[in-house]
Amino acid sequence: MIELKGIEKIYNRGNEKVHALRGIDLGIGRGEFMSVVGPSGSGKTTLLHLLGCLDTPTGGTLTIDGIEVVNMRESELVRIRRSKIGFVFQHFYLIPGLSVYENVKLPLLFGRTEKKIDEIVSLIDLVGLKSRLHHTPNQLSGGEMQRVAIARALVNNPEFILADEPTGNLDTENSEKIFELLDSLHKRGIALVLVTHNSELAARAERIIRLKDGRLQGSD
Ligand SMILES: Nc1ncnc2c1ncn2[C@@H]1O[C@H](COP(=O)(O)OP(=O)(O)OP(=O)(O)O)[C@@H](O)[C@H]1O
Ligand SMILES: [Mg+2]
Repeated sequence: MIELKGIEKIYNRGNEKVHALRGIDLGIGRGEFMSVVGPSGSGKTTLLHLLGCLDTPTGGTLTIDGIEVVNMRESELVRIRRSKIGFVFQHFYLIPGLSVYENVKLPLLFGRTEKKIDEIVSLIDLVGLKSRLHHTPNQLSGGEMQRVAIARALVNNPEFILADEPTGNLDTENSEKIFELLDSLHKRGIALVLVTHNSELAARAERIIRLKDGRLQGSD
């Protein structure tokens, strides 16, 4: 469970202050599937970064499973991020020289979690790429690369998957498949926050929130 109260985010850009979020109140329940829509620059990515402890707000309170994270040290944030949250991005961010298997396993290098070969392979099987274990990213399609990124996001057994435009680089057919894969994770009990410009996909979430100029426009 993530709870935000009066969340503000101001970026400093030279002498200029950019007010990216202006008082967000929001709760995301266990296992919930929520989509986030809004114009470019409305604060969607900023919100996702705060939810995922990749950045800290400049005002307000943010609790994850009852723990206040706003004033935490970076080392503690890293621990929360690793144990509870998986990220999926528009540009996949796979490591070019590593195989599918090695890319999925990568996050385990930085934490204490151990996983057996079988467990990694079964995650890759879950995203439909068991026959591609030893391929490198340049041998995969965009949709397949995103599947690898999703398997990698799952490797630490997260409670939340935060996805920023995961279908932004994909055609309609692959977008649909990636959406279905994410939805299947939600059905397994993982909470999902999906930022997307695709209003049809957004409408299929349990809840949509709309951002405009850093404010919530209401949800349905
Ligand atoms: N690191 C940063 N430094 C300064 N300003 C930033 C930074 N990141 C974002 N901003 C600004 O904050 C505002 C919100 O940006 P954000 O990336 O959250 O929007 P977005 O809704 O994700 O947009 P898009 O749909 O284009 O991805 C924008 O005005 C942006 O220029
Ligand atoms: Mg964005």
